[in-house]
Amino acid sequence: MDKKATLTLADGKSLDFPVLTGTIGPEVIDIRTLYGKSGMFTYDPGFLSTASCNSSITYIDGDAGVLLYRGYPIEQLAKHCDFLETCYLLLNGELPNASQKGEFVSTVTRHTMVHDQLTRFFTGFRRDAHPMAVLVGVVGALSAFYHDSLDINNPEHRKISAFRLIAKLPTIVAMAYKYNTGQPFVYPRNDLSYSANFMRMMFAVPAEEYKVNDVLVRALDRILILHADHEQNASTSTVRLSGSSGANPFACIAAGIACLWGPAHGGANEAALNMLEEIGDASKIPEFIKQVKDKNSGAKLMGFGHRVYKNYDPRAKLMRETCYEVLNELGLENDRLFKLAMALEKVALEDDYFVSRKLYPNVDFYSGIVQRALGIPVSMFTCIFSLARTVGWIAQWNEMISDPEQKIGRPRQLYKGAARREVQPIDKR
Ligand code: ACO
Repeated sequence: MDKKATLTLADGKSLDFPVLTGTIGPEVIDIRTLYGKSGMFTYDPGFLSTASCNSSITYIDGDAGVLLYRGYPIEQLAKHCDFLETCYLLLNGELPNASQKGEFVSTVTRHTMVHDQLTRFFTGFRRDAHPMAVLVGVVGALSAFYHDSLDINNPEHRKISAFRLIAKLPTIVAMAYKYNTGQPFVYPRNDLSYSANFMRMMFAVPAEEYKVNDVLVRALDRILILHADHEQNASTSTVRLSGSSGANPFACIAAGIACLWGPAHGGANEAALNMLEEIGDASKIPEFIKQVKDKNSGAKLMGFGHRVYKNYDPRAKLMRETCYEVLNELGLENDRLFKLAMALEKVALEDDYFVSRKLYPNVDFYSGIVQRALGIPVSMFTCIFSLARTVGWIAQWNEMISDPEQKIGRPRQLYKGAARREVQPIDKR
C-alpha cells in the first residue's frame, strides 16, 4: 500500500486503507474493505464526501471555476468545436480529425428518423401533458423498438444505441413540442447541421419555408455543448445506478430524464426566468436582495450558487456572451430581462452576503433568457437540457459497463425503524 489512511476505532483498533490518486483533484480513501474489516458502514446521504466511481470523462474544479471535458477546457470547446465534435470527444476520449468527424456526423444524421409507429405514442398523451412527461415515456419506449441493439455486453450494440439516442433525441423533443402546440410533426432534414435540423423540426410549419439563422443555430449549439456533461450529478448517477443492474440504455436514459426533471436539478433556469419576471424592474432589486438575505423569507436568488462551483461557473460566462450575441442578432439589445439580470448580477457580486458565501451566477442565470429569445417556451427548457445531456449520460453509462470494477449499485443504510416485534391478532392492535 503506497499511500494509506488510518482509521482508529473506539476500541483502539487501527485499520489502514489505500489512498487513491487521480490525474487531478482530491485524493480518495478506498474504503471498500471497511465493512469486512470493522462490521461498520460509512454514512453519507447526498454523497457529500463519496466518490461513487472512477471516471475519465469530465473534471470540475469548483473552487477555481474550471470545467474540462476529457481534459479540454469548456471555454475552448465552446469556441472552437461544435456539439457533434463534443459528442465524439465525450464518447471516444479524443477530438475527431476531419475524416472521423465526417463519418461520425454522417452516422448520427442517418439515425435521426424514428420508427413510424413511435409517432403513435404521442397521441396517447393529453395535448397539455408536460413535454418532460412525454419525453420520459417516449425515450423509455425506444427499447421496445430497437431490439437489435440491446445486448449491453456487446460493444457494437452499445455503440449503435449511443448513435440512436444522440440522433433521435432532437426528433423526439421537437415532436413533443409540436404535439403540445397542435402543429404537425416536422421530419428531420439530413442536409442540415444537428442544431439547425433541431431548430427546423421545432419551428418550421408546412405552410412556409423555414429560414435557418446561423447566429441562433450557433447559440443553440453552444447551449448543447455547455450542458453535455457535468460528472456525477444526480441524473448521471441515476443513469449509472439504473445501468448497474444491466438495464438497457434506453431505459437508463429515460431514468436520467426523470431525475433531471426535478426543480433542484434541471428546472433552475425556468425558476431564474420567473424570478426576473417577478422582480420586473431594476428599481425593485434592493428590495428583492433584502428579501433573499432574510432567511425567514424562503426566497433565493435563482441561478446563483452551486454545490460544486464556489467561483464563477465557467458556463455562465459563456452563456452571458451568447446572450449578447442572440439579443443583438434579434435587435433585442435592450431586452428588459437581460438588462435586469445584468443589474442583479452586479449588485449581488458586490454584496457581502453573496461574496462571503461564494455565491456566483451558475449556467442557469442566463440560459433561460437565451432560450426564450430563441423562441423556446419555458416548459421545453428541461427537454433541451435532456437533449444536451444525453451524450454525457450515454458516455458515462458506457464507461461504467466497460469498467471491470463495476458492480450493481447497492448502498447500505443506518436503520432507525422498529426492532423485531411480533404481529398481534387484529383485535389486540
Ligand atoms: N440565494 C441566496 N442564498 C443562497 C443561495 C441563493 N441562490 N444559494 C445558497 N445560499 C446561501 C444559503 O442560504 C447558505 O447560507 P447560510 O450559510 O447562511 O445558511 C449558504 O448560501 C450555502 O448554501 P447551501 O444551501 O448550503 O449550498 P448548497 O451547495 O447546498 O446549494 C444550490 C447549492 C442548491 C445550487 C443553492 O445555491 C441554490 O438553491 N441556488 C439557487 C437554485 C439554482 O440556481 N440551482 C441551479 C444549480 S446549477 C444546475 O443544476 C445546472
